Amino acid sequence: DDKWKLKPHPSIPKPDKPLLVVVLDGWGEGTHNDDFNAIHKADTPCMDSLKEGAPQRWRLLKAHGTAVGLPTDDDMGNSEVGHNALGAGQVVDQGARLCDKALESHRLWDLDGWKYLAPAAQAGTLHLIGLLSDGGVHSRYDQLLLLLTGAAERGAERLRVHCLTDGRDVEDGTSVQYMQRLQKDLATLREAAGVDAAIASGGGRMRVTMDRYESDWKIVERGWDAHVLGEAPSRFTDPVEAVEKLREPKALGGKPASDQWLEPFVIVGKDDKPVGPIEDGDAVVIFNFRADRVLELSRAFEYEKFDKFERKRHPKVRFAGLMQYDGEEKLPKHFLVPPPDIERTTGEYLARGCCVPTYACSESQKIGHVSFFWNGNRGQPFNSLETWHEVPSDKNIPFNEKPEMKSREIADLGKEALRSGKFDGGQVRLNFPNPDMVGHTGDLEATIVACTAVDKCVKELLDEVEAVGGRWLVTADHGNAEDMVQRDKKTGTPLREADGRPRPLTAHTLNPVPVVIGGPGLPDSVRFREDLPNAGLANVGPTILNLLGYEAPPHMVPTLLA
Ligand code: 3PG
Ligand code: CO
Repeated sequence: DDKWKLKPHPSIPKPDKPLLVVVLDGWGEGTHNDDFNAIHKADTPCMDSLKEGAPQRWRLLKAHGTAVGLPTDDDMGNSEVGHNALGAGQVVDQGARLCDKALESHRLWDLDGWKYLAPAAQAGTLHLIGLLSDGGVHSRYDQLLLLLTGAAERGAERLRVHCLTDGRDVEDGTSVQYMQRLQKDLATLREAAGVDAAIASGGGRMRVTMDRYESDWKIVERGWDAHVLGEAPSRFTDPVEAVEKLREPKALGGKPASDQWLEPFVIVGKDDKPVGPIEDGDAVVIFNFRADRVLELSRAFEYEKFDKFERKRHPKVRFAGLMQYDGEEKLPKHFLVPPPDIERTTGEYLARGCCVPTYACSESQKIGHVSFFWNGNRGQPFNSLETWHEVPSDKNIPFNEKPEMKSREIADLGKEALRSGKFDGGQVRLNFPNPDMVGHTGDLEATIVACTAVDKCVKELLDEVEAVGGRWLVTADHGNAEDMVQRDKKTGTPLREADGRPRPLTAHTLNPVPVVIGGPGLPDSVRFREDLPNAGLANVGPTILNLLGYEAPPHMVPTLLA
């Protein structure tokens, strides 16, 4: 297709071997090289040697805030915006920012999504389901509140919130405060607007509702039962008590459950009946702006035919997402804010115009990152030149129990793809989830193991590229493992509990990430330019096109190469 053709690069020839692209998920460059930097503590001879080996082929990139399309520079990076930027070669306003704008200007209430919902929201109950925190990765508390008040002002008289507790993008244990805050804000709303507003159900985000990439539908089923049917193993009259009780250690000596892993619960009234099951005629909104962890619930609501679990009851509701989560699948059909349109990505040029093959592989937890997010939130390959390969993740275990995760399998598949000849002239793109997924557990020792394991895999892969005579680019999508402790904002001193235990940091960071290139197939003259000190993840996109022998199209940000 001519529209998608790219000019040959003036000085870098097209490779006759593959380009290996590795994304180390959650591998940032820390400012504190102390005991809480899992990457510093881990045994990482390969990544260390890359940093020291060729200064002109190693550098740092911005991976947070406005550099990746987030509202402010206080926003930590995340995999969605990170992989979007890497693959698109462009910085676009991301979901969080678009929703802020639509809510601030009140435009949201004039758009088609709300027009569709309004009759049901006014006549029945309006349900809001989503992640309850200020993390800003999947959702934000202030946006939930604006949705609640805005809907109440527009005639929604009965409001129910179904809360997934976080502890992953924010500190563990804060679910209690968020519940208290929401209880207070709902009380204010009841008084000010004379509406009936309450919390109806909930559970921990890793245990209830927010599965991703079909890793484990059981998680979504638990959420369906609690939010829709009003059924869960635990019932409480008070949502604050619910999270407090569910956080208590189960058995003697048992560890307390963390916010991420709380069991599902339902709130019941004095009559012992659930206060907010979802009924025919109601309106339902998912208030997450980020797609990956709400696509499955959206399918459960939207699709007439559905066989992923027994829904038992499929209420006839008006359903919308805060955003449309998959533009190709048009899921959901109705949405409150139009999603970012991430068009003309590197992948589309390579597949449609350059006819170059791509192999994208990770385990279930991150497969969509190097495929769906990389290609601008598209759930299907552009054409048959793209191969997406998913290694099934372990189900339902906190990954600190197995910090190697599926890194061995991913590395082996990568090596096989490099050797196969099938991806010559194209890309072998891998994501190693470990530093991120284990980092999110807050378990420092396990995260050190995770980083060591991944470094070993990178070494093996680079050796394979060496053997076949290819090229490689290694980078990351955002920071996580390089800082595992909460710190005093001013001094950087680790914060501790009264008993001296450090307070774990489960979330991503604001740190930059490394990018490094090499390989025997790369002409000696290829090096990074020095005039882009503020380059970010998006600059990797055009760089990859160059490394494949093409000039990048002008709508992309500048290449990193001199
Ligand atoms: C998650 O969904 O696991 C976290 O909120 C963000 O992690 P990711 O952006 O690295 O996927
Ligand atoms: Co993460």
